[in-house]
Parts: sequence; structure tokens; C-alpha cells
Amino acid sequence: MKDKTYKLAVVGATGLVGQTALKVLEEKKLPISEYVFFASSKSKGKTIQFMGKDYVVRELTENSFDEGFDFAIFSAGGETSKKYSPIAASKGCIVVDNSSAFRMDKDVPLVVPEVNASEISKNHGIIANPNCSTIQAVVPLKVLDDKYKIKRIVYSTYQAVSGAGWKGITDLNNTMKGLAPSKFPYPIFNNCLPQIDVFLDNGYTKEEEKMINETRKILGNEDLNITATTVRVPVMNCHSESINIEFENSFELDEVFDLLKNSPGIIVMDDIKNSVYPLATIASGHNEVYVGRIRRDFSIKNGLNLWVVADNVRKGAATNAIQIVEELIKLG
Ligand code: A2P
Repeated sequence: MKDKTYKLAVVGATGLVGQTALKVLEEKKLPISEYVFFASSKSKGKTIQFMGKDYVVRELTENSFDEGFDFAIFSAGGETSKKYSPIAASKGCIVVDNSSAFRMDKDVPLVVPEVNASEISKNHGIIANPNCSTIQAVVPLKVLDDKYKIKRIVYSTYQAVSGAGWKGITDLNNTMKGLAPSKFPYPIFNNCLPQIDVFLDNGYTKEEEKMINETRKILGNEDLNITATTVRVPVMNCHSESINIEFENSFELDEVFDLLKNSPGIIVMDDIKNSVYPLATIASGHNEVYVGRIRRDFSIKNGLNLWVVADNVRKGAATNAIQIVEELIKLG
């Protein structure tokens, strides 16, 4: 019997995440026999090279999903997802949505495959890909939560401009030359901006709120104590995060190292005698989450500090979405 093959749409194929998704798809060689690439009317008719062939970009419309798709990866912003994901799902296509539009919906699984792949089967046509800074954090956090039970998390992030798409990269390049910013509120060159997305009434930014709420949902603990400060830094690619954790239970540092080393999707890089620790330039272009500076927080009982770096466009977006598609294929 011939093996089953699938048909996949990539919505936002001309964007930074969309383009990276194509690279990851080329690397992974999934049993997908048909690909269709969508973007806005602006890109209609453009050619994309993929797996040695030329593909013409189609404009996304309300009828785009009439022809039938097994899966679609959406990475074209929240408004596009809100409008078109339900249309795609109503036509039998399972959507992996990279926007924040559906992440906190009770009926929508929010999935990082290393953490909660079992949620995938509960989908009703839409599965949400978490926020980039949340994805890389929960990969090590889940392993440690299972073993020592997390009581509180303090996140401090150092987020690359690629997290804001092509426009973010352009802003760093332009402000480096002394030009005015058009994406971020201030020149990102030579600055760390303690604002990612808009401010909320409680004084936090939307990015900080996303990290808090999405971590709670993915770890399955709505009451988990979490605080976050998210900062945009003049780094092209890869988010870095300082994560301070307080556990309910005591731990041995050696055991923490072993747990992290033996977990899928994690690379431990921690050899301080030789100044070895995760860096953006090391993680860039890779799919794993890099963890280092693993050390006790002596200021509290059962406290631990981690330095966590990952390619935010890959593991934080494209790779995670494609891993979800891989899991869907396994489900048949
Ligand atoms: P386009 O290139 O035609 O504007 P990024 O975040 O890197 O800027 O990428 C955003 C992606 O979302 C692009 O592929 C962009 O296509 C796509 N996009 C934006 N608006 C729409 C829309 N209304 N319909 C379909 N795709 C869209």
C-alpha cells in the first residue's frame, strides 16, 4: 500500500517566519506531496523557490481553502488569522496558527511538542503556536516542573529584532545608519527597549502578559506565580532569557544538569571555567533550546537560575509549528 501523503498551505509565506518555515520543511522532508503558498495581494504572482522548484505565491482569499488542505501554517499576523483560520478549519483543514489570536481560547490547544504534544489531539481545527519567548522557556521549565514543582518564575528577556519580522530587522539596520525608526518606538541600535508590544492598564506590556498567561496554560497551572520583564535588544536573531525559578521541592544541581541534558530539544552548554554558555550567535539557525549558567539562587530556598537562548524564528515560531504538523501526521 502507498504511504499517505498530505497537502499543506503556508499562509504568510513571504514573511520572515514563512520563509524560515520553508527552510525547515526542506530540511525535515515530511510526507507532504503538495504545497501551496499564500500571502497578501501585494505578493500575488511572486515566485518562491522551494525544494528545487518554482512556486507562484497566491493571494489569500475567502475561497483559498475550497480546494481542500490537510494542514495550514498561518504566520500572517493576528487579523489575518482571526479572519481566515476559522474559514480554513470549517473546510476540514487543521490550522497551526502562529499569531496570538486564539492562544488563550479554552478550545484551542497551545502546544510545544516537547512539553504537551498530547494536547494536539484535542483540537477542533485550530492549534496555537505559543509566543516565541514562551516556547523556549517552557521547554526546560516543564522538565523541572515535573520533578521539583515550580512555585514562582521571574522572567527577564533580551529579545532579538527578528521577533518583529522583516520590519524589525530593517529597523536595526536603519537605526545603525542613523536613520529614524519605523517599527520600534525608539532607535533599537545602541538601546535596550523595555517595551515589546503595547502597554496594558496594569503597567505590563502585552508581551509580558503573553509570557505569563501562556506559561500557565502550557504548564497546566493557572495559579502559577510568574512575573516578567521583556526587553528588545539590538541583536538580529535569537532571544536570550534569564529565568529565575523557585521550586516547592529541594533539588540537587547535578540532577538538574542530568535532567536537562537528557531532555529532547535541549542542548546544555555550561562550562564556566572555559566561558562556555549559550549565545545568540551559537543558537541562530538551529532548532534546539540552549541552556546554560545553571546555578543555585542562594537568596531563596530551592531557587535556580538559568540562561536560555533559542532561535526565535525557528524554535520560537516556524520549527515549533512544523513539529506540530509532524505530530498531526503521526496521529494519521
Ligand atoms: P506580504 O509579504 O504579501 O505582505 P512579516 O511579519 O515578516 O512582515 O511577514 C508577514 C507575512 O504575512 C507576509 O508573508 C505577508 O505577506 C503576510 N500577510 C500580511 N497581511 C496579509 C493578508 N491580509 N493576507 C495574507 N497574508 C498577509
